[in-house]
Amino acid sequence: MSNFLKVAAFSLFIIGVYTFFADRLIPPIAPQAPPPLTEVAARPMTADGLARLGEEVFKGKGACTLCHNPVGGRAPLLDGIIIKANERIKGPGYRGGAKDAAEYIRESMVNPSAYVVPGFGVAGTHDTKSPMPDVRGSEIGLSEVEIDAVIAYFQRSAGVEVTVGSPAAGPEGK
Ligand code: HEC
Repeated sequence: MSNFLKVAAFSLFIIGVYTFFADRLIPPIAPQAPPPLTEVAARPMTADGLARLGEEVFKGKGACTLCHNPVGGRAPLLDGIIIKANERIKGPGYRGGAKDAAEYIRESMVNPSAYVVPGFGVAGTHDTKSPMPDVRGSEIGLSEVEIDAVIAYFQRSAGVEVTVGSPAAGPEGK
């Protein structure tokens, strides 16, 4: 056997040994778990706090941007959703039960098929069934506070009054 092969084989052996022991001997770095959102959400919140939680939920746990993003086109964009929501509930095709933008957004989240944005329904259902899951169920599992928080986030982003949440989210929370 050439020297080269011997050196190569030996090197592979050493790399193998290191790889084997690295897995076992180097203590894994345990990441500090962030406080669960529900714990944060259990505290009474100002409107700002609620809106901040809502932004986190919207961009993280809520998985909203998986579908609501400008790339995939699988769901309508939610920019300006407060204004859009007010138009939707006044539209002739609206058949849900919401009376204002906040109610419309909540309805979209917990009962998506109550009204399906034209063109976005499950194929073959003539826009009677939404592909969006009930965000309380499925893998998303949002709490009522987290749902309020997302609505507060949309309201804050639109510069309108935050109308959802506990009394602690009242005027002093501005
Ligand atoms: C699996 C993809 C998917 C996920 C995840 C999803 N949505 Fe949707 N969403 C849709 C689709 C598709 C529609 C349009 C059909 C309809 O009206 O239900 C929609 C509609 C909506 C509407 C009504 C939009 C309008 O223009 O009237 C709102 C509000 C909304 N979603 C909010 C959310 C929020 C907030 C989340 C995260 C908590 C979320 N969605 C997560 C797919 C999704």
